[in-house]
Amino acid sequence: MSLSPLQVTNLVKHYGPVRALNGVSFSVQPGEVFGLLGPNGAGKTSLISIVTTLEKATGGQVHVFGEPLGKESAVAKCKIGWVPQEIINHGYFSTKEILEFHAGYYGVAQADVAIEELLRRLDLWEHKDKKVRQLSGGMKRRLMIAKALVHRPQLLLLDEPTAGVDVELRLKLWQFVKDLRQQGLSILLTTHYLEEAEHLCDRVAIIHKGELRAIDRTEDLIQKWSRKRVQLHLNRDVVLKHADLMSGEGRCWTFMTSQNKPLGALLSELQIEVNDIVDVQMTDGSLEDVFVHFTQKGAL
Ligand SMILES: Nc1ncnc2c1ncn2[C@@H]1O[C@H](COP(=O)(O)OP(=O)(O)OP(=O)(O)O)[C@@H](O)[C@H]1O
Ligand SMILES: [Mg+2]
Repeated sequence: MSLSPLQVTNLVKHYGPVRALNGVSFSVQPGEVFGLLGPNGAGKTSLISIVTTLEKATGGQVHVFGEPLGKESAVAKCKIGWVPQEIINHGYFSTKEILEFHAGYYGVAQADVAIEELLRRLDLWEHKDKKVRQLSGGMKRRLMIAKALVHRPQLLLLDEPTAGVDVELRLKLWQFVKDLRQQGLSILLTTHYLEEAEHLCDRVAIIHKGELRAIDRTEDLIQKWSRKRVQLHLNRDVVLKHADLMSGEGRCWTFMTSQNKPLGALLSELQIEVNDIVDVQMTDGSLEDVFVHFTQKGAL
């Protein structure tokens, strides 16, 4: 069996009185995109900072491809690529120089080839001689991604890679992430765009207040915890009562019901005949429902 690219066991992080992580455990499987989701302050960046050895854990362990992670761990430096949440500005160097320094630091073989390929793939080739301070926000983000990949890591940590980028670039980055997965990279991604997580992530973990609240395959979480909206338009006025009823009167009624429940079952509970129905609209549940379920006030 291949080793887990990242295994986090009972991870605890305290900053003075702040409990950022309270015993979080999960593992990222080889070749998957793993989404780490949670509201602001949930502990996502703290966890990534420990994996990159920028911060020291208060307790617990991290293993990268089976090796325990320590401050001096060579594994962390060579096998991990990291795109931080905050754009780091190296204003006076050019795009290409940044990548050259980084490649030199890691002793990358055939660095010129790797750098040109990455700059072209990220649409930065024509900007290769621009100083970083002359780049737009979206270009800087792409440069950070190129920098994270230049030493050919096997595990990529993306901390909100699409924050503040326009729709077109976001779609391009989604495709880029899918291509990386196709090439066998394992990816841990944090994002506040739940549609993005739903689209990209094979599995998702939801953390809230430093604790793991849910972890599963994305589609299984949606199937299990989201609710679909059913809107009924009838041919006569009725009065309906049902546990799943959201709103309605007269001929138009809206229900939020289990993703698994067939329409026929709901109609029979409501004692509505198919002949009474003028129109039905159904909207599937989404990862957003799951997120709200596990993170809203008073959740769990
Ligand atoms: N260097 C630090 N010193 C003190 N407290 C910190 C530090 N870094 C983070 N924290 C605190 O730890 C908690 C978790 O923060 P963290 O940045 O990990 O959250 P996050 O899930 O990444 O949030 P966001 O979605 O806003 O990026 C917060 O309460 C935050 O204020
Ligand atoms: Mg963060």
